[in-house]
Amino acid sequence: MPACTHDTACALPSAALEAAQARVRDLAAARQPGYSLAQPFYCDEDVFRVDLERVFKRYWLFAGHVCQIPRKGDYFTWRVGNDPLVIVRGEGGAVHAHHNVCPHRGSILTDKPCGHANKFVCPYHQWVFEPDGRLFSARHMPEDFEKAAFGLRPVHVRVLHGLIYICLAENPPPFEPIARDVGPFMEPYEMERVKSACSKHYELHANWKLITENFRECYHCAGGHPEYCRVVLGAGTDHPVYSKDKHKDVWADREAHWKRSGLATGAVRFKMDSWYHCARYPFRPGAVSQTPDGKPCAPLLGRIPDRDAGVFAIVTYPNFWHESSGDYFMTIRITPLGASRCDADVAWYVREDAVEGRDYDPERVSAFWRATAEQDWKLGEDNQAGILSSAYRPGPYGPLETEIELFIHWYLKQVAG
Ligand code: FES
Ligand SMILES: [Fe+2]
Repeated sequence: MPACTHDTACALPSAALEAAQARVRDLAAARQPGYSLAQPFYCDEDVFRVDLERVFKRYWLFAGHVCQIPRKGDYFTWRVGNDPLVIVRGEGGAVHAHHNVCPHRGSILTDKPCGHANKFVCPYHQWVFEPDGRLFSARHMPEDFEKAAFGLRPVHVRVLHGLIYICLAENPPPFEPIARDVGPFMEPYEMERVKSACSKHYELHANWKLITENFRECYHCAGGHPEYCRVVLGAGTDHPVYSKDKHKDVWADREAHWKRSGLATGAVRFKMDSWYHCARYPFRPGAVSQTPDGKPCAPLLGRIPDRDAGVFAIVTYPNFWHESSGDYFMTIRITPLGASRCDADVAWYVREDAVEGRDYDPERVSAFWRATAEQDWKLGEDNQAGILSSAYRPGPYGPLETEIELFIHWYLKQVAG
């Protein structure tokens, strides 16, 4: 069994958790609105434990894509805090999520990152489980042993146009609002009918919030993202999603075009208490895809009618970021590992019938976001390194960083509200 990758044990007795929460509440109360958070929010073990309990164990988390598990029995594993999970394809295409913990004496069922199992066999005493979690057999147990009472502990799961979300809470927040609001934007891409072009795993020396904060502003784009600024309208001078006022003509022309094409336009903006956002916004004239030169890199996705569908982006707190061009989309999954560490998994998808080498080159499909994401990882890690200094003090957000303030408001409400 692999060693725990976490900096500390994440589970705390409830008294210790209450003390940690009281500390977080004090820190939150001392925060100056409009300023970045105090140092402990990015490096303190108590804060990290509260983040896991109050954010990651309560909200819908992006786990992966259905094309990772195409056949019954295909599975992948993931660990959130101290909770090892397994996401598996079951009967009739159903997607199940379970705690990867045997109900006999607690062994994990599999330590593999992904694989195929018609049934899960616990490595310790060989209890056998169906993909849907039911206990199939338990050798040498008494005749009257009630198998039905010892299935795998289920985890809530929802699939949104191919994107798999799980929630560790007993009573998750409603999922219907995101399906209602964001679903119509997603439909024409047929995101469930894609295949992986490539994927990349990163281990980051940064608190998960620094990565989220980075993705909520484009103030850093001018200095940090030459590729992004070359292709996306408004990047480098404005927030691209909200650059309408300064680029009225291009916006009006593109939105009219998208409407004629049957594509949803506008944005579902974060409100004070919401956990999801999406928007469609224009490329710079001449660009049609998030590639280094703005030119196409793959066949159009789903029912996208022509090359210029703009950029379509989704963000869901606390761990997901996505951007689509008309011909491919990418997903970023953040996994918190410690007070100052997280993982990022970036994946690129093209339509399922595209042929590698003929229709697309994985290097070209991934080039733009490999560059952009790696630039962000460096910015996030540099941010973390400076915050650890005794000289760090919270600094003021500027007009291009208002979206961060919304995120911080949401976050503080979860951990200290
Ligand atoms: S711990 Fe799994 S069968 Fe015993
Ligand atoms: Fe960035």
